[in-house]
This record gives sequence, C-alpha cells and structure tokens, in this order.
Amino acid sequence: MASDVREQLRLRLEGLEAAGIDWLPKTSGPPEGFEFAAASPELVPVEEPRREANSQEGRQITLNVLRERVSRCERCPELAVSRTQTVFGVGPIGAEILFIGEAPGADEDRQGEPFVGAAGQMLNRIITGCGLRREEIYICNILRCRPPGNRPPQPTEEQNCREYLDETIDLVGPKIIVCWGATAAQNLLRSTVGITKMRGSMYSYRDLPVICTFHPASLLEGRSPQNKKYVWEDMQMMLKSLGKPIPVKNA
Ligand code: URA
Repeated sequence: MASDVREQLRLRLEGLEAAGIDWLPKTSGPPEGFEFAAASPELVPVEEPRREANSQEGRQITLNVLRERVSRCERCPELAVSRTQTVFGVGPIGAEILFIGEAPGADEDRQGEPFVGAAGQMLNRIITGCGLRREEIYICNILRCRPPGNRPPQPTEEQNCREYLDETIDLVGPKIIVCWGATAAQNLLRSTVGITKMRGSMYSYRDLPVICTFHPASLLEGRSPQNKKYVWEDMQMMLKSLGKPIPVKNA
C-alpha cells in the first residue's frame, strides 16, 4: 500500500516536472486562516477511478514522461547538438513484440519516428509478410539520437541510452524482443559475436526471449538481399514462439 502511494506520488511529481514545474513550496501546516477538517470517522467514497501505476494507463503515462525526459537529454553532447530531435519508440503499451534497431537515420531524425526511411520500408514488408501490422509492434532503437553522418553508435552513447531502452522494455512489457542487426544484438546482449553467427538462435534478456537477425537495411538491393531467407527463418521462429500462424510464402 505504502509503495503504491509512493509510486502515485512519483508519477505526479514526474508529471509536474515534465510540465516545467521543478520545485514546490515547503509547507509545515495549513496556510494562515485555513484549518484542515477533522478526520471523518466515515470513509468518503472516491468517485475518480484509481489509476494503478502498473495499469496500461499508468504505464502509458510513465512512458510519456520518459519520452519528455528523453527529448531534453544531453548526455551525449555531440548528438544533442547535431540532432533535429530525439527519436523515441512507437507502438502500443502491451505490444507482444518489441523491435530494436540501431539508431535513427536522416529520415527518422527529420520525422521523429524510428524506421521510416528505406530500411523502414523493408521492415514494413517483413512485418506484412509475417501477417502482422506495424501498429501492433513496439519499435525503437539502441540510440534515440541520430549519430552524425550515420556513423555507428559509440560505446558511451549506447551506455548513456541504455537506461531509456530498459525502461521502455519494462513499460511496454513485450513477450519477445527482436534485435535488427549486429549493433542492436551485440549491444543488448553485450556480445561481440557477429550477426551471421548470432541469428537462428534464441537468447534471453531480463527473462524475455530475444531473436537476433539481419538489419533490414542490409537486405536492400545492392547489399545482401540473399539474406532475406534467413530473416524469414528467424521470423518464423518468432511467430512460432508466440503461437501465431505462419503465413504460407508464395513461391
Ligand atoms: N532507422 C532506424 O530507426 N533504425 C535503424 O536501425 C535504421 C534506420
């Protein structure tokens, strides 16, 4: 009970902070001329429905507060000055599947949403091929800022952003995570193994199953489209572990 009240208070204070209120006056009693009513012996019914911190609504509010905090993040000075905006995740709280990519590119930096450029188009095709809709998946990245010139994320940047990723995973509460590409896979699982070796197996992070596969950008024409068959194998593994039907592929 006490921890529930503490959580409600924490959410309220974070909400106020997100709204720009970063201090509250200290009071030691009622203002002059006011008196607190004596405690009523009868409990007064509370009309407003209780918002449990762990309810879907409570988690959404906490995620919104996190998004607001991330939008002002300056942990990585180089990224903070070069970005157009931060790129938080998209998707519903309670999504069964959570995708993790590398970092926003130029299109994502401009539009403020992950996977909206060429790699995003490829990702959309993969999602549709799985018989799923993009709107039912939570999509985010290892980094929430675009590295200048799309250079790979640096270890300190990945470290700085890890808290945001972990909080997002906890609040969304997926049943499975898919890491797209070596950066996402190696960073999440703290591994140095290449993606060709990592794919095809099931890993675990915070008690959640994790699948690692090739990055959608690497499947584009002119790169390695021949790897699409391996991504399809990995997607089948994902669908099977969720008990979802596997669409029949046209030859
Ligand atoms: N866009 C993203 O949001 N992430 C990637 O990893 C690549 C493109």
